[in-house]
Amino acid sequence: MKTVVRLALVDPRDATRNSLKSMLLGIDSVWLDAECSRYEFFSDVVQQSQPDIALVTLDSDPVKALALVGRITQDLPACNVLVLSSSAEGSLILQAMRNGAKEFLSIPLKLEDFMAALDRIVQIHGGRGGDGQVRQSQVLAVCGVSGGVGCTSLAINLACILARNEHNSVAVIDLDFALGDTDVWLDIIPDYTIQDVAENITRLDYSLLKRSLTRHECGAFLLPRPVQMDDGLKITPDQLRRVIALLKATFTHLVIDISKSYSALDLAALGAADTALLVTQLDLPCLRNVVRLMQFFDQREGFSGKIKIVVNRLGLEDAQISLNKALETIGREVYWQVPNDYATMVEARNNGVPLIVQSPRAKITRSLEQLAHSIDGSAHIAPEADDKKQRKGLFSFLGSGSR
Ligand SMILES: Nc1ncnc2c1ncn2[C@@H]1O[C@H](COP(=O)(O)OP(=O)(O)O)[C@@H](O)[C@H]1O
Ligand SMILES: [Mg+2]
Repeated sequence: MKTVVRLALVDPRDATRNSLKSMLLGIDSVWLDAECSRYEFFSDVVQQSQPDIALVTLDSDPVKALALVGRITQDLPACNVLVLSSSAEGSLILQAMRNGAKEFLSIPLKLEDFMAALDRIVQIHGGRGGDGQVRQSQVLAVCGVSGGVGCTSLAINLACILARNEHNSVAVIDLDFALGDTDVWLDIIPDYTIQDVAENITRLDYSLLKRSLTRHECGAFLLPRPVQMDDGLKITPDQLRRVIALLKATFTHLVIDISKSYSALDLAALGAADTALLVTQLDLPCLRNVVRLMQFFDQREGFSGKIKIVVNRLGLEDAQISLNKALETIGREVYWQVPNDYATMVEARNNGVPLIVQSPRAKITRSLEQLAHSIDGSAHIAPEADDKKQRKGLFSFLGSGSR
């Protein structure tokens, strides 16, 4: 989990204070240390609790509140003051900033506006003491060039590998609304799905979002596809971006299993991703689609830089195209090669247990651990997995299992 930011709040109006309070209580990365209904007492409260952030609403008495902002920033320079007001008057904003406020937020406060302000403060000031412990959330999308290339296998197993680090919190989103099977891989019977999230999108808050996720024993949380096939499910790219933004505020890693339709939703998720793995196998239809998709990504701003090609099932006996020939065909660098090991993969899936638990020493597991580590240094490689043999490359994978 991210480093928690400690916060104190002052608002003489019960209604706004209570609604702010319930929003703050739903945010994992925020610890509401103190709340106060009188401007006069807040200086003392802040002196005592020494929060990272002081939230001051101006509406009850802007003159008093602005003076208070000045006092806090002077007495406690390490405390970031955020002011809130239902007025957007320029002079008020200017005065708040002159008195040392870091952010000016509108009432009613939108969760995403608050989270964005929080992110800015954490980025600039590094949270409490600037100890550098606050990490940005990483979004990893896994997309494929054809059905059955191994996207879900890789997404789930990478998520479980990342979740093994106790400092990480990982959520998996299944974007294959029709046939997604992430729940099978994790052997989860989910209570809620992305459909619940979609239906409640306008009143989505943290507690609802968190209730919609089911936790697997390995530590990863899952937001699965809808239970019923339903073409009435309406979730817009903007709404999905909002869900992703909310999840990013709570989880250190999001792993998104992209559908194969490359719909507007898939593209929104790819747009939000920091890294996207494009999974392929070494057969002609797949390689042709690698070229096709890479051309498509090249046309979209900001896409091609984050796409990493992953060759899955390397060593599959009936793969007719050699890696060298494939490289020639696609004209791009292959970022990673995952060995073929059908028996191990299927056993893990059928048991609903990730590879790191089911077969921690298998070459395929080690390859995925190293892939996770290479994308994100927070994924630890188990000591026994630091196997020199793994570095032999292509030939060490041959014969490692077949369909
Ligand atoms: N590296 C691999 N070696 C052997 N079999 C694999 C490998 N990766 C995936 N598979 C198998 O391929 C099949 C399809 O994988 P899946 O992840 O469901 O693909 P996708 O999500 O792209 O449709 C599954 O039966 C899975 O066990
Ligand atoms: Mg899949």
